[in-house]
Amino acid sequence: MDKDIYGLVGNSIAHSLSPTIHNSLFEKYNISSEYKLFEVKNLASIKKVLCKDRIKGLNITKPFKIDIIDYLDSLDDEADKIGSVNTVLKSERELRGYNTDGIGAKNALKQFTEVKNKKILQLGAGGAGRAIAYELSKFNDVVVLNRDESKAKRLEKFVFKGLKLNESNLKDFINWCDILINTTSVGMGEERSLIDSRMLNEDIVVLDIVYIPLETKLLRDCKKVGCRTIDGLWMLVYQAVECFKLWTGIEPDPIYMRKVAREWIR
Ligand code: ATR
Repeated sequence: MDKDIYGLVGNSIAHSLSPTIHNSLFEKYNISSEYKLFEVKNLASIKKVLCKDRIKGLNITKPFKIDIIDYLDSLDDEADKIGSVNTVLKSERELRGYNTDGIGAKNALKQFTEVKNKKILQLGAGGAGRAIAYELSKFNDVVVLNRDESKAKRLEKFVFKGLKLNESNLKDFINWCDILINTTSVGMGEERSLIDSRMLNEDIVVLDIVYIPLETKLLRDCKKVGCRTIDGLWMLVYQAVECFKLWTGIEPDPIYMRKVAREWIR
């Protein structure tokens, strides 16, 4: 019998670790399915992927997390509130959209710290940032700083404050926060951080959702100061845990998933 197909749809996704993670889970749990990459340049091509018979589920990434919604039959409540989708479940009846980015970040943090009644400073209000801010705002005070202030302001329907990313706000809110999260792409494949290391203090727990490199400049600077740090591979793994649960009903082992993915990252 032909295998069911799952996959990632996006632009410039050749280096994604999702096939490694999901294919090793299919093998581990004896599921005869395969996870593939679908590199697409436009929305019309996504429609073709969605229509393929053997497709049972998809992850959606940049730059289609918002526009994909027009092609779906229904949205999970949370994805609807966030306004973006990173996971699609295809049943006989319908294509349904979910967002697992927020819960992925929360569960990554929970391995290292309590995530309730905390003061959280989040840098970035892009696709992933939106989902993370929404999820964490349920039980915490979240301040979002973003280069484009209007995107931060738009999040004020969930978060405590959404402000312009600048030096003065960074200084003030780093001193205020218990947890700092970088959801911007700054530091991805480059030796750069938005934060001058002199602003940091050892009491903050820091999550960087960038995972290439695994130790970003931000995380290295934070370690030097004595902060507890959490790398972006934890977030990738925990968002994938939620996808795999949606697609198969099985709760996979995150430690195994991290080990498999870790072998692929230098
Ligand atoms: P993703 O889906 O991974 O969240 P995205 O939606 O493109 O990707 O969001 C990228 C985030 O990184 C945004 O918050 C972006 O800020 P803007 O909204 O102002 O564009 C942020 N970002 C990217 N490059 C940046 C830079 N050089 N300085 C500050 N923020 C940056």
